[in-house]
Amino acid sequence: MVKTIGNNLIINHWNGKPYSQRYFDILDKRKTLPIWHQKYDFLQVLNHNQTLILVGETGTGKTTQIPQFILEAIDLETPHPDHKHKKMMIAVTQPRRLTTMSVSRRVAEEMDVTIGEEVGYSIRFEDCSSERTVLKYLTDDMLLREAMTDPLLERYKVIILDEVHERSLATDVLFGVLKEVLKKRPDLKLVVMSAALETHKFRGYFLGAPLFKVPGRLHPVEIFYTHEPERDYLEAAIRTVVQIHTCEPAGDILVFLTGEEEIEDACCKISKEIANLGDQVGPVKVVPLYSTLLPDMQQKIFEPAPPPVKEGAPPGRKIVVSTNIAETWLTIDGIVYVIDPGFVKQKIYNPRIPAEYLAVFPISKASAHQRSGRAGRTQPGKCFRLYTERSFNNDLQPQTYPEIFRSNLANTVLTLKKLGIDDLVHFDFMDPPAPETLLRALEMLTYLGALDDEGTLTKLGEIMSEFPLDPQISKMLVVSPEFNCSNEILSISAMLSVPNCFIWPRDQANKAVDEAKARFGHIHGDHLTLLNVYHAYKQNNEDASWCYDNFVNYRALKSADNVRQQLVHIMARFNLKLCSTDFNGRDSYVNIRKAMLAGYFMQVAHLERTGDYLTVKNNQVVQLHPSNCLDHKPEWVIYNQYDQTSQNYIRTVTDIRGEWLVDIAPHYYDLSNFPQCEAKRVLEKLYQKQEKEKDEARICK
Ligand code: CDP
Ligand code: MG
Repeated sequence: MVKTIGNNLIINHWNGKPYSQRYFDILDKRKTLPIWHQKYDFLQVLNHNQTLILVGETGTGKTTQIPQFILEAIDLETPHPDHKHKKMMIAVTQPRRLTTMSVSRRVAEEMDVTIGEEVGYSIRFEDCSSERTVLKYLTDDMLLREAMTDPLLERYKVIILDEVHERSLATDVLFGVLKEVLKKRPDLKLVVMSAALETHKFRGYFLGAPLFKVPGRLHPVEIFYTHEPERDYLEAAIRTVVQIHTCEPAGDILVFLTGEEEIEDACCKISKEIANLGDQVGPVKVVPLYSTLLPDMQQKIFEPAPPPVKEGAPPGRKIVVSTNIAETWLTIDGIVYVIDPGFVKQKIYNPRIPAEYLAVFPISKASAHQRSGRAGRTQPGKCFRLYTERSFNNDLQPQTYPEIFRSNLANTVLTLKKLGIDDLVHFDFMDPPAPETLLRALEMLTYLGALDDEGTLTKLGEIMSEFPLDPQISKMLVVSPEFNCSNEILSISAMLSVPNCFIWPRDQANKAVDEAKARFGHIHGDHLTLLNVYHAYKQNNEDASWCYDNFVNYRALKSADNVRQQLVHIMARFNLKLCSTDFNGRDSYVNIRKAMLAGYFMQVAHLERTGDYLTVKNNQVVQLHPSNCLDHKPEWVIYNQYDQTSQNYIRTVTDIRGEWLVDIAPHYYDLSNFPQCEAKRVLEKLYQKQEKEKDEARICK
């Protein structure tokens, strides 16, 4: 919406300021996006339908352009009962925090407004929007949270669910929730967007909603398979990079690997091998890409390939080594070669352990297709699949397994209960989760006291649902005032919500790092070590150079501090007292550990005579993860995370006492339904001791 006044000054209708030159530069680029030419048709279809499904290849302009088309076309003002006008908004959901932020920034730039004003974003623990916001990008779980206080989502006129082919847990739940909301709000519109999806299934679910297709502009991509299965995909990937660089014409390379460590390792090896080839080949820029990478490092993937050393010399090349971030939701121009070993690291849930952990799995056919598509964005490309064609045809699943089948649903069930959805069995899931997983979630919430025996949300459960945290952590926060240590539990919860706060610089001797880490180490375990780091950070005035000197991640700490503040607000809303344990007192750390146990009593492991740990009730053999900072092996520990790599590990562990288990969680440690094991015999003795003490107390009285 461009207004021209007087001396041809062009004014941005959103903020009344003249448009910048950058606005016009970007506008020229936007006009070349495939979706640009379908604006009118799209708006027509939207006008005549309440729900619409839009499919288009990555990079066609769905996420950035569609919301702006709608913004220009519809009237966001609605009459309000008190005769004023209320401004409504457009919401666009994303499954990931990183894209939510980056895409909203891009759109703010395209509209030539300041981020946080007309265009904003909202992710867990960070709201960058204001009264003026009309277009809000938010993670899918945040929209679900908004529905908890605004069940009909009345602040929105249009809701766009983006990247739905990822089938993230919150998006799947939103499908069911929004279907109900749409019935009650005929004025609300829903756009479901995706790079690729099972059209038939989606149309069936959304009651025959029309499908709007945006033709992509993909160039042909030639696909190569290996003749024999590769024994070591990492080694094969590196070898293929070197081959392409020596033999193929100019064009950047994108390699898909599974995680940070593997990617950093591959980057080092690729750089070394290519350096060994000397002048025969052109210079390379090898860039890693994964979600926990610092933003300025992430920016590097957009830098151009290095120029040849001299005129006529072999061309330079950019080599991006990425997780599946680069599969659909991040577009890197200039990629001509894709190397796809066929694996992805995914979350998985085993209701029998029960634990959620990351593991490496073969990708789906849909993923393989997306990956190869990355090679044909700017010119014809090549994709090297490091598996056989036979394996592609016979072994790969057609679609990625939806997250709802791979998750612990305790948090989801708590949210649904808070939304007033009690009948989970009849909830309109696109793919209903396994009954065993739902049952486990209900059981866990009942043990935590969030649900009563009828499955109704309790007062405690209501409060817990307000915290955007795992239920165990919410529980320990809510009860922490009873242990006189809510301030400390707040700090620990915040530290558990951010990425690892320790840095292991690759180029430094590990000794210096170990020494730094030892300074913060607490004899009772990792949670208290995290608390020490947080306290030290505050005592050193939140100083970035102090963090640097102590191998502590400044950004993680800063972010923990922000999370903590938000949690304090939630505590205040429910009049939960902020109090500190007396650090001079004998029981200071005992109180903190007991408060943690009140949330974590289902994540306990017992040291067996064999020297292994066994998880309580589920009897899984586990080891303390080597990163722990204990100097001994305690008889009982609580753990934050189960980790299944080459061995089964438990991570972030803290030493607790057996007596506390029978005191704090007797309902869970009810020995009548306890499997036979060493822990049971120890607990029996502890119960006997407790009885004896009670008797003695009675006699004394
Ligand atoms: O959603 P879809 O994959 O269809 O495309 P998009 O995210 O709307 O991106 C369209 C174009 O906008 C990309 O090809 C990029 O040129 C540009 N873009 C960008 O420069 N920075 C972003 N954070 C996102 C998009
Ligand atoms: Mg997109």
